[in-house]
Amino acid sequence: MNYKIAVLPGDGIGPEVMGQGVQVLQEVGSLYGFGVELEEGIVGGSSIDAHGKPLTDPVLKLVKQSDAVLLGAMGGPKWDGLDYSIRPERALLALRQELGLFANLRPVKLFSALASASTLKKEAVEGTDLLVVRELTGGIYFGEPKGVTQLPDGTERGVNTEVYTTPEIERIAHVAFQAALKRRKKVTSVDKANVLEVTELWRKVVTRIHKDEGYAAVQLEHMLVDNCAMQLIRNPKQFDVVVTTNMFGDILSDEAAMLTGSIGMLPSASLGGRVGMYEPVHGSAPDITGQDKANPLATLLSVAMMLRHSLDQGIAADRIEMAVEDVLNQGYRTADIQEKGCRLVGCKEMGQLVRDRINLLKG
Ligand code: IPM
Ligand code: MG
Repeated sequence: MNYKIAVLPGDGIGPEVMGQGVQVLQEVGSLYGFGVELEEGIVGGSSIDAHGKPLTDPVLKLVKQSDAVLLGAMGGPKWDGLDYSIRPERALLALRQELGLFANLRPVKLFSALASASTLKKEAVEGTDLLVVRELTGGIYFGEPKGVTQLPDGTERGVNTEVYTTPEIERIAHVAFQAALKRRKKVTSVDKANVLEVTELWRKVVTRIHKDEGYAAVQLEHMLVDNCAMQLIRNPKQFDVVVTTNMFGDILSDEAAMLTGSIGMLPSASLGGRVGMYEPVHGSAPDITGQDKANPLATLLSVAMMLRHSLDQGIAADRIEMAVEDVLNQGYRTADIQEKGCRLVGCKEMGQLVRDRINLLKG
């Protein structure tokens, strides 16, 4: 097998963590007998600098012709003042929409070696293993009308619209129930049905899919988003699969990330179309860019998700995850997860340690 992977390093620490991601991918390719053909594209702020816009047609063509997309991070203070239509983040939203990636999977799994790296008490977070299934191409991120208009009295009016249709809710509900069947068989659907009609519809449709489409083996519960924000830090172990809207998922997944000790640990997969996209959840981290300080583990775990979901290379994916766990157990830490008595390493060394470990596991 030979896979075509579009590599979009992006901005900030994106190129650094992607450097490690690509090397791990090549390593498992040669160990497990498949080839990877990498093609790099410029996106985000880097593309604004080079081409005046965050996503160009050749890059869009590149991703559409690939088997999967690996993405670093986008954005930074340099481009913050730009108009919304050409900000780096637009590239991310456009890629999601153009590739039809309506389902965003963000697994939040605490490696036991990191149980005391979290800002929360060890007893509270130990054993956390949940999956956020975030709707990614609908809701308030894309709803119309939107924009800021001038009013006759000289003031302004800003609008965004939260919209969901039945089919949009049905398909993300299926993703959540299917995922739960392979896990601990519980789905928590998160909404604000006590206030927002659109999420009252969400609740109704999720309930119907559960009842009518053969998911009796899965336990379904509904939770209001404010309560969910609280429950996530009160008792995260109660959650298995959490399914929610685009914006609630954005917020809750950052919160959930901190259960693992650092947002630098969280991978993600965006699925739904022919081509899946995989990226670390952390941003471009301009404050540590170019210093070899970034944590590459979220990217390596994203490579593992790509191998599993897009390339059908589950064994190679398992090996990466095992190697990451082993390296953490051996006490190596990047700055974001550093603890007393652990050995501080940079981005490159962490990548190398994981590759060495993968080789050992194979041997
Ligand atoms: C994320 C990010 C993006 C989002 C931004 C950068 C547009 O926060 O992937 O969670 O809000 O979806
Ligand atoms: Mg976010």
